[in-house]
Amino acid sequence: MFKITVAGTGYVGLVAGVCFAEVGHQVTCVDIDDNKVALMKSGISPIYEAGLEELMQKNYEAGRINYTTDYQSAYREADAIFIGVGTPELPDGSANLSYIATVARQIAESVEKDCLVVVKSTVPVGTNDKVEQFIQDFLIHDVKVEVASNPEFLAQGSAVQDTLHAERIIIGTESKWAEEMLMQIYQPFHLPIVSVNRRSAEMIKYASNDFLALKISYMNDIANLCELVGADIQDVARGMSFDDRIGNKFLNAGIGYGGSCFPKDTKALAYIARQHGYELKTVKAAIDVNTEQKTLLFRKARKRLITFNGLKVAVLGLTFKPGTDDLREAASLENIPLLLEQGADIYAYDPVGATNFAKLYPVGKHGAGQLSYVDDIEQALQGANVCFVFTEWGEVKELSPETYQKLMRTPLVFDGRNIYNVALMQEAGVEYHSVGRQAGTRLAIKGGNNNELQYS
Ligand code: UDX
Repeated sequence: MFKITVAGTGYVGLVAGVCFAEVGHQVTCVDIDDNKVALMKSGISPIYEAGLEELMQKNYEAGRINYTTDYQSAYREADAIFIGVGTPELPDGSANLSYIATVARQIAESVEKDCLVVVKSTVPVGTNDKVEQFIQDFLIHDVKVEVASNPEFLAQGSAVQDTLHAERIIIGTESKWAEEMLMQIYQPFHLPIVSVNRRSAEMIKYASNDFLALKISYMNDIANLCELVGADIQDVARGMSFDDRIGNKFLNAGIGYGGSCFPKDTKALAYIARQHGYELKTVKAAIDVNTEQKTLLFRKARKRLITFNGLKVAVLGLTFKPGTDDLREAASLENIPLLLEQGADIYAYDPVGATNFAKLYPVGKHGAGQLSYVDDIEQALQGANVCFVFTEWGEVKELSPETYQKLMRTPLVFDGRNIYNVALMQEAGVEYHSVGRQAGTRLAIKGGNNNELQYS
């Protein structure tokens, strides 16, 4: 078993650290934030992630994991240091590598024995070479430090399971020593390991994420056409999915991909290509389709209603996907400001994301509109003129068409995640608009602007 230090306790770092401890390694997680470290020591996870706190508590009690801000001693003693700090997007679409550079310098100034530095963060191709050179330049002690690439493929909401039962581990190394050490670190996971050189490992991460983003954008593009030609995207996806070469995952059309990875990684790879004088046309198309798709519901609803002024608008789901409190690049962030601008009186429900959303958009007046947060779905739907579904939380999926019909003033639903059956909604008298499927029969819209508006 190895002494492993993990730099950064975000999704990538913390989950990796906890999972390394779970398989028996001795782990120290480093973060610069005192409060976060104190929180983690008391068994509380700074991120919402199923199963994470249980493993944090179990491994902390067993003495296999610790948390500290004292990076010097944590790096000094490590056999391997995993870097999991963020690489956020810069305005030009490139990745901000300043956090990685800071950690690399701290490592160079702290290590006193041979050690393998493993970059888990998603970084542009060639960054690992630079990190290694950077560490060599600042190294104080006469020790061997090599850099390896080990990109992370976990998805938020299932991060622990994704790490413990990953479909593959990618390791990118430039020496037998580094390769063997990483193989040994991952040996207790009993997972398939793909060993390549560093640049290929870096590329595998971008190529995988961008391919998935492209798959989603492709389905969204086809979905938009399905609406126009009278086809149903879910039936189309089902028909396609029997072909093993296509597969049955990531074929769900909707209001586009959000999160911390796909939007950032598509732009970063397009940027890398441009830097090399090449245009990645497919990735650019994925980005363009996604940008349009995110405001699709707002545009559909505005076309249908003309104005939102004075309408009670129920919003179900704020996060970029279920199972997380993360709002990064969520479709709600695109649509809600547009609705508020148009005078909507919004009642938003999200089981875990509302607190984060309220930090950006507090309760109260926003321009012509008004925003409130509610703790249960019924409160959001009660008397509403229109409902938007932005996230497919389990409890939202479980709602029956009759619930919409019974609670809403006008049962008019715009679903960005295609979670309901079109025919059943129609039968229950709900006017149902989704993505890539046919819309329900038009209802008369009651209310709005204190008048009884009737649009048809
Ligand atoms: C993703 C990758 O899955 C993971 O491998 C990588 O390491 C990080 O990025 P994550 O961002 O957590 O993980 O979420 P994911 O479940 O992949 O969903 C991303 C977005 O795509 C969500 O907004 C989701 O709603 C959307 N999506 C996903 C679709 O619109 N359709 C689909 O069929 C699948």
